[in-house]
Amino acid sequence: MELTGRRIWIVGASSGIGAALAGALDARGAHVAVSARRESALRDLAGDRMAVVPVDITDGPAVRRAAAQVVDELGGLDIVVLSAGYWKQLKEFDAESFQQHLDVNLSGMAHCIEAVIPLLEGAGMIVGISSVAGLRGLPGSEAYGATKAAQINLLEALRVGLAPRGIDVLTVLPGFVDTEMTSDNQFPMPFMVTAPAAARMIADGIERRQARIVFPWQMGIFAKLAPLVPDRLWARLFKPKP
Ligand SMILES: NC(=O)c1ccc[n+]([C@@H]2O[C@H](COP(=O)([O-])OP(=O)(O)OC[C@H]3O[C@@H](n4cnc5c(N)ncnc54)[C@H](OP(=O)(O)O)[C@@H]3O)[C@@H](O)[C@H]2O)c1
Repeated sequence: MELTGRRIWIVGASSGIGAALAGALDARGAHVAVSARRESALRDLAGDRMAVVPVDITDGPAVRRAAAQVVDELGGLDIVVLSAGYWKQLKEFDAESFQQHLDVNLSGMAHCIEAVIPLLEGAGMIVGISSVAGLRGLPGSEAYGATKAAQINLLEALRVGLAPRGIDVLTVLPGFVDTEMTSDNQFPMPFMVTAPAAARMIADGIERRQARIVFPWQMGIFAKLAPLVPDRLWARLFKPKP
């Protein structure tokens, strides 16, 4: 798909992957609108090239108003990228933190999807940023991983269900990316890539109308092998150190 002239809304663009992707898509000739809660970061990114539409995706009515504003600003919508996300390592299982992950990663994504389906019908694309963390359970990632697994399932169901309505769905499974989200992590993050490198791979995936991309390539191998590892071996491999 030629990106020149495409009207693209990036939700979760005030930092990290979303911000880098906004720059990459702008450079490829797309008309970009950027959203997140931090308006000043969005304005710094956008300059006079992108539309800025601040929103908190946990607020469903606000997301619907933001989607309408994006359509006004861009003159329509061809592609939405859902990159907003929340991650906190659980030291002890904690239902309140679990709920925060659900509110942003799942309910927030659902609010955005509900708002854009009528706008994309005919020839549109939904790009959902999930994670390889959604492929198998890992200690400390109970809440984040569960929401990322649910996103993978949700996006696949939408891909099948929305195809007859002319909407493609791309599921993105990044490995580790060097962003604000990972900056406090105290564990090894193998094969980490930069946000601009992640953005390039996502922009390429959109251009090729792919259904699913995993990066970097080492994580592509992990994604293929992880489901095959027997449960007891998985538990031994990732057993927390005392
Ligand atoms: N970094 C990684 O290693 C990695 C790996 C796999 C997948 N991912 C996924 O990639 C996506 C982007 O993460 P990132 O690494 O780029 O992290 P990031 O720099 O922390 O970006 C997260 C974005 O989400 C926005 N956001 C959070 N809560 C929001 C809310 N309630 N309403 C609207 N926007 C909200 C943040 O903006 P505001 O704070 O301004 O609202 C920010 O723009 C996430 O879905 C993440 O799970 C990241």
